[in-house]
Amino acid sequence: MSLQKGFRFDQEGAGYEMAFIHNAWYVACWAEELKSEPSSRTILNENIVLWRGQDGRVRATENVCPHRLLPLSKGRIVGDDLQCGYHGLTFDGNGGCILAPTQSDAPDCAIKHYRVHEHMGMVWIWMGDPTLADTNNIYDLPQYHQDGWGVAYGDALEVEANYLLLCDNLCDPTHVNYVHPSTLGNPDGINAPVTHRDTSWGVLTERLTSNSAPTGFVKTFGNYQNKVDMWQRYLMYLPSVSIIDFGATAVGTGSWKRGGEGRIQVYSCHFMTPITETRTIDRWLHVRNFRVKDYSVGDSISEQFRIAFGEDKEILEAVQCEEIRNNGRKKIGLDLDASAGLFRSKINRLLRAEMSARVR
Ligand code: FES
Ligand SMILES: [Fe+2]
Repeated sequence: MSLQKGFRFDQEGAGYEMAFIHNAWYVACWAEELKSEPSSRTILNENIVLWRGQDGRVRATENVCPHRLLPLSKGRIVGDDLQCGYHGLTFDGNGGCILAPTQSDAPDCAIKHYRVHEHMGMVWIWMGDPTLADTNNIYDLPQYHQDGWGVAYGDALEVEANYLLLCDNLCDPTHVNYVHPSTLGNPDGINAPVTHRDTSWGVLTERLTSNSAPTGFVKTFGNYQNKVDMWQRYLMYLPSVSIIDFGATAVGTGSWKRGGEGRIQVYSCHFMTPITETRTIDRWLHVRNFRVKDYSVGDSISEQFRIAFGEDKEILEAVQCEEIRNNGRKKIGLDLDASAGLFRSKINRLLRAEMSARVR
């Protein structure tokens, strides 16, 4: 147990919610959203246009034409390039202007472009220094690709809150008993100890609830009538990917480590993209080890999650409102904040490093 006693949540977070980590891969959209039209997205306050060229590859540039500033998303895809919808200036995926229909030479007016990469059914975008972009650093869940696991895609949930408020929530297994009593919560687990660990990729928070009444979710999908051993492992990756590994086995038969009799296991995956300081999109999907070919099971899990994540949204948006209204007000710290506090301190360290690299 590594609780940071006396931790002050407001001290760790102070001021940093107004800045974003740029040297990171974020999810820009679901891959299937990009078809024959260009599509605009705001990410870290930047207006971006994405399009899929005729060769099937995705490109992204800033979403503004340098001529009269029309958003390029109002234009059209021509081959692999993007043509402005006002006077036809045409840009390639490197942001270079390659054609000006009314004159012989294209002007020298390159616009910003972004590295993009498709992975796990999503388009990922690198928002920082392009020389540091490495697709090997994009988050990967091995089970997503393996036999014996079923994948179901959820929604793109818009939450009117800073992304760090979502990260706090996703470092915190204790909230489920209060926010999600009918689905994920379990009254037997209220006092189950929570531990957390600093890792190279973020923070891991764990809670085991042994010999306990099954949660609504476990009852529905695990067919358990009697008590079970359950686990919640919250893997919070820097800067904003959250994987919740949770499940159940018959009492005393093991855990996620050893298999376990009748084990049901789910990876609930959240890919959070900060849009502005007070708006975040949480794209979620889940991967399960039971009835993997039965799509209706994936759908009914999504239904339960949709309810639960809607409950989180309501809480977090209300917290965001009060943060604005009570700007600067000190908050008290509780032991349960230790994991989220550690995550915020790691975010702050990354931000400081990025900021000092920029002024050098
Ligand atoms: S505004 Fe884009 S070409 Fe004129
Ligand atoms: Fe929640």
